[in-house]
Amino acid sequence: MIFPLTVVNEVEKAVAEHANKPFMIGYRLSPEEGSNPGITLDDTLQFVDRLANQNLDYLHISVSDFWNGSFRESDRTKSRIVKIYDKVGNRIPVVGVGALHTPDEVAEALETGVPFIALGRELLMEPHWIEKIRTGKEMEIRTTLSKKDQDELVIPDPLWKKLIGVKGWLPVVD
Ligand SMILES: Cc1cc2nc3c(=O)[nH]c(=O)nc-3n(C[C@H](O)[C@H](O)[C@H](O)COP(=O)(O)O)c2cc1C
Repeated sequence: MIFPLTVVNEVEKAVAEHANKPFMIGYRLSPEEGSNPGITLDDTLQFVDRLANQNLDYLHISVSDFWNGSFRESDRTKSRIVKIYDKVGNRIPVVGVGALHTPDEVAEALETGVPFIALGRELLMEPHWIEKIRTGKEMEIRTTLSKKDQDELVIPDPLWKKLIGVKGWLPVVD
């Protein structure tokens, strides 16, 4: 933990010294590594317990699916994000993420108590996600990426080629 905690301390110092308006500092982490030796979920739970006392503004967990459990521990059923939230409680706001597309899916994730949800791939497919909910157009929210929509979504060519080309990244339809 020494290296990341030293980085956090230095960042906090730099913000205290240089920021002339409110400046959020968050920490985003991947909760486990597949290689052995590598970071385990148990390591991460100890680490987030320390991070929760660091005066950070948020903790953001990098996973591909909000509900996925550990891929290397024997208890694989409970969401890693929820386990992290259970560990830190309300000491630091946890941001969950991962394969959440519809408002109902996001509401179900929020029911775990995790206070914030981020959308990544979904916002690439539907940049007007929030606006459509606000204006009662939930049924029009896109949950797939159509090959016809590149211009409308203003996705530059190199990113577009990757998004379309790498199988499993996004639900691409013709
Ligand atoms: C193309 C692609 C690249 C990504 N690169 C990173 C990365 O460099 N670092 C990281 O922490 N997460 C990365 N992620 C994971 C995302 O940040 C996010 O956790 C994941 O896509 C799940 O959220 P979403 O379903 O809302 O997109 C990447 C995801 C995708 C699809």
